Amino acid sequence: MNPTDEIRIEIQKLKKIPTLSYTAQKIISLTAKETTHLDELVEIIERDPPIMSKVLGVANIVYIGSYKPITSVKDALLKIGFKSLKNIALSIAVFSIFKPIETREESYKRLFRHSIITGIVSQIISEKYLNLEAEENFTAGALHDLGLLGIHFSFYEYFKKIESYISDGLSVLEAEKKAINTTHSEVGKWIAEPWGLPEVLQDVIFLHHENPKKSKNNSSTVALVHLSDYLAHELNYYPFKIKTPYDFKQKEVYEILDLPTLEVIINDLTNLISTEDIESL
Ligand SMILES: [Fe+2]
Ligand SMILES: [Fe+2]
Repeated sequence: MNPTDEIRIEIQKLKKIPTLSYTAQKIISLTAKETTHLDELVEIIERDPPIMSKVLGVANIVYIGSYKPITSVKDALLKIGFKSLKNIALSIAVFSIFKPIETREESYKRLFRHSIITGIVSQIISEKYLNLEAEENFTAGALHDLGLLGIHFSFYEYFKKIESYISDGLSVLEAEKKAINTTHSEVGKWIAEPWGLPEVLQDVIFLHHENPKKSKNNSSTVALVHLSDYLAHELNYYPFKIKTPYDFKQKEVYEILDLPTLEVIINDLTNLISTEDIESL
């Protein structure tokens, strides 16, 4: 069997991809009537200490505007609000089910930091310059490379192959085509569909390296995440060992989103995000 079919079939049979954890499912189910679920959300997060410490770490980076750090889940709820906390917790819960055995720790950490930074940048940009629902954008940013996470977790041999082709000088896309004859965007789609993730997340996962206008209903979010993914690379948080040139579709992004220049955005981001905070995640 060729690698593409092997990966697709294994994923579609849900053989090699973990199902959403209880924690993640619980968090997704807390929706509409926010106020009735406040305590429940706090309780779900507190029940899982590794998830809690990461959620607090991210909440502290996302929450700009106080010298006092967020120290508890309740405090985070007060300062960043239900929706933000819920979305951060969901993203962290998804990452926790892809946590690999120790020997792969380093590449997992790289993927994790790249993804979380993309989420943080998406949220900051939407809050600071745009009138988009900021909270949802964290999850869209954080989960955009779900396909890479899936390849790393379930098909590690292929992940290493892709990484070695990148070290030889190929672009990510070329390396993936050569190793698995498909892309992490497509693999991500194969995971997101059976999980039943919302359409906006599926669009981001499938189209974040494409012209954002290809998304019928969610082009702004796709454009935002494409930009944030590029900026994560610029801030030196990229998913593979080696930084590869990023095919950034600047013109298309700026046609969709009304934003200041890249220089201004990068300058703001470097002032707002401390490398130390990211390294400690
Ligand atoms: Fe990607
Ligand atoms: Fe990415």
